[in-house]
Amino acid sequence: MAKLVSMVPLLKAAERRSQENPGNGSSIGAFNVNFYAQAEGILEGLRRAGAPGIIQASRGANKFQGGASKIQDMVLRAMSSLKMDNYPVCLHLDHGTPETCVDCINSGFSSVMVDMSEEPLERNIAVTAEIVKIAHKKGVSVEGEYGGLGGVEEDVEQQAVYSNPLLVPYFFAETGADALAVTYGTSHGPNKFGPEVNLDHVLRIEVVEKSYRGLVAYGLNEKCFLVGHGSSTIPKDIVAEINANGGKLKDARGVPLEKIIAGRNAGIRKFNIDTDLRLGITAEFRKYLYKDNPDIVKKCEPLRLAKDVFDGKIAAKDKDGKPVDPGKLTDPRSYLDPIDREILRKDYRGTEMEELMTRVKNRVAAHVEMLVTQVFNCAGLADAVKA
Ligand code: G3H
Ligand code: 13P
Ligand code: ZN
Repeated sequence: MAKLVSMVPLLKAAERRSQENPGNGSSIGAFNVNFYAQAEGILEGLRRAGAPGIIQASRGANKFQGGASKIQDMVLRAMSSLKMDNYPVCLHLDHGTPETCVDCINSGFSSVMVDMSEEPLERNIAVTAEIVKIAHKKGVSVEGEYGGLGGVEEDVEQQAVYSNPLLVPYFFAETGADALAVTYGTSHGPNKFGPEVNLDHVLRIEVVEKSYRGLVAYGLNEKCFLVGHGSSTIPKDIVAEINANGGKLKDARGVPLEKIIAGRNAGIRKFNIDTDLRLGITAEFRKYLYKDNPDIVKKCEPLRLAKDVFDGKIAAKDKDGKPVDPGKLTDPRSYLDPIDREILRKDYRGTEMEELMTRVKNRVAAHVEMLVTQVFNCAGLADAVKA
C-alpha cells in the first residue's frame, strides 16, 4: 500500500537546497488532479526527474469524483501501479473550506489548504489555527492564505491584490500553519494578464523577497513556507494546438518561466499548477477526437459523449453548472462530465480509452518533468526527502 507524506519534508528539502545554492533556489511543484490518467501522468513526470511532488485536489475535484476518499484511493492506486509506493508524494486539498479540510483529514489526505482569504484577517487566523490543531494531531500539514489572488484584466493593473510581507511572520506565529499562499500578482486560469499588461509592473517579486526575509529574520524558514498560486505558464504551442482542432481560446497568457524562477529564487517553495495540465489534456483530447482518430466515437461510448460536449450536442457546463462556449472549454471535467466517474477513476489499460489516456498521461508527464527540472529546480530531490 502506498504511503503519503505531509508537504513539510518536501518543502524543507527544497529550502535546504536553496540555502546550499545561493541565488539558485529550489521549490516543489503542486499539480491538480481530477482523474486517474492525470494522476499517473503527474507521478510519471516526478519519477522521471527524481523529484518529490504534491498532488492536489480542489473542492471541485472532490465533488467531481464523489468524495475525498475516492480521490485518495485513486492516487494511492496510481502510485502502486507505477511502483511508487514509498516515493515522497503529498496529497493536498487545494482551496478548502473548514468542512472540506476536516473531511480530507479524515479521508487520508496528508495535507490541506484552508482558504479563509475572503474573511477579515483575525477570523482567518482563528479558523486556520483551529484546522492546524486538528490536522497536526494526525501529521497532516496545513496551508493558509490571506489577501486573495489578483485578477488582472486587460491593462488594469491596480486590480491585483498583494500580500503585506510584514504580516507573514505574524500569520505563521498566530496560526501554526506550515505554509502560506502569498499574492504577488498572479491569478488562476488561462487569461492571467491582458495583452497590454506590463508584467514587470504587475508581478511584484519584492513581495516574495520581503516575506521570505521576514521568515529568515525570525528563524522560521525551515518550518514555514511560502506558496505561489496561479503559476501556470500557459504554453503558446498548447493553445495553438487546441485552436487548430476547433478550440477558440483568446488572449491566453500565463506566468513566464523566468518570472517563476525569480519567485523561486526570492523564496517561494511551492508552486501550484492546474491550468497548464488542463490545457495539455484538452489539446490531446481535441487532437485525438478531431484529427487522429475521429472514428473512435463509433466504438467507444465514453469518448462519444466527450465529443458530443465539444460539438455542442450536449450542453457544455463549467464545474458550477454554468454554461460554457464549447470552443472555450479548458476544464476536462466539463467534457468528462457525462462519463461514468467509476471509469475515470480506474486504470485505463485494456479499455477503448487506452490510447487516448496513454497520450494524456505522457503529455502531463512531459510538462511536469519539464517544470520540476527546468523551472522549480527540484529534480533529484526525492532522495533528500527520503533521507
Ligand atoms: O484554485 C484553483 C485551481 O485551479 C482549482 O480549480 O476549483 O476549478 O478545480 P477548480
Ligand atoms: P493555475 O490556474 O495558474 O494553474 O493555478 C492553479 C492554482 O493556483 C491552484 O490552486
Ligand atoms: Zn490556487
